[in-house]
Amino acid sequence: MPPAGEHAPAGHAAVETQDPAFEISLRPTVLGDFTGQTRIKERLGILVEAARQRKDVLAHLLFIGPPGLGKTTLAHIVAKAMSAGIKCTSGPVIEKAGDLAGLLTSMEEGDVLFIDEIHRLPATVEEYLYPAMEDFKLDIIIDTGPNARSVRLNLPRFTLVGATTRSGLLSSPLLGRFGVPYRLDYYTAEDLQKVVLRSARILNADIDTEGAFEIARRSRGTPRVANNLLRIVREYAQVRAGNRITRDAAQAALSLWGIDEDGLDEMDKRLLETLVHKFGGGPVGIASLSVAAGEEAGTLEEVYEPFLIQEGYLRRTPQGRVAAERAFTKLGVKPRGGQATLFEQT
Ligand SMILES: Nc1ncnc2c1ncn2[C@@H]1O[C@H](COP(=O)(O)OP(=O)(O)OP(=O)(O)O)[C@@H](O)[C@H]1O
Ligand SMILES: [Mg+2]
Repeated sequence: MPPAGEHAPAGHAAVETQDPAFEISLRPTVLGDFTGQTRIKERLGILVEAARQRKDVLAHLLFIGPPGLGKTTLAHIVAKAMSAGIKCTSGPVIEKAGDLAGLLTSMEEGDVLFIDEIHRLPATVEEYLYPAMEDFKLDIIIDTGPNARSVRLNLPRFTLVGATTRSGLLSSPLLGRFGVPYRLDYYTAEDLQKVVLRSARILNADIDTEGAFEIARRSRGTPRVANNLLRIVREYAQVRAGNRITRDAAQAALSLWGIDEDGLDEMDKRLLETLVHKFGGGPVGIASLSVAAGEEAGTLEEVYEPFLIQEGYLRRTPQGRVAAERAFTKLGVKPRGGQATLFEQT
């Protein structure tokens, strides 16, 4: 199992955290090294500076966005910028209020508690979190039956940093307690090129700017994917291309690994083919699509769909998933007239 705070969405070879040590070695530790997301960086920089000047604790933060865009990285960066300690856990790991109490009481003033996958926090635990976030108090019930009584614990003032890939699954009371959430966007190819060049420097890999761009533009807008593809291309270059990462080497390596010109991998293509060929372009419910494509519905929703939607291959409609024009073009199929009504959902 990956360590807490390093959860890996199952199924996607490139988006998955396959090697936590590799990932940590490439993780920026200061805002200045964190590429892109300029507005978020600017805002966080201001909050950190203001809190430091006032010698106050940093406000609670919530990071929302698809896997691999830098939520965990930002949590570590802000803790470090506050010269604070950080404790990492994740929603499903905190099963009972007691687990939360244990974590919170072991923290020091100003520390960061990072809860990954915060949308998966059990509802019973979530209720205990509210007074902890608002007043740094925790009411715990001790004993059972007629002896049961509530004890109020004073907590050190701390910063809760939550991360979620599924903001839609977050309860509104919890969402409300975070103030303005920070939504991370997919990165541009130019930004990912910078990420690749930086990582190559850390890895001591010989790369030119075109090689870096080729990797960047096939990385689904995601830094984690860019780093994972860089790793593949570096191995390829070592064995087949004189240990130098050029555009040709990157192209050859990535097509060998089934990652096409637009960064789609074999699962993306299978998904689009299923939607277009088996379901006439949709609309089709996520459950049927998941069975037909042989991938868990949750993984489709969390890992594959956001990128396919953003790139104009797929649409979510109240009736189900529908192939968008770019999917038909990609597969070389003509959209049939009124495709959206061809297949009724059953
Ligand atoms: N803005 C960035 N600049 C440079 N590298 C980045 C950036 N964002 C992420 N990375 C790299 O991508 C890796 C994955 O980022 P991170 O673990 O923070 O993603 P995440 O949003 O927490 O993903 P998940 O939802 O799967 O937990 C990091 O280890 C880091 O090397
Ligand atoms: Mg993370």
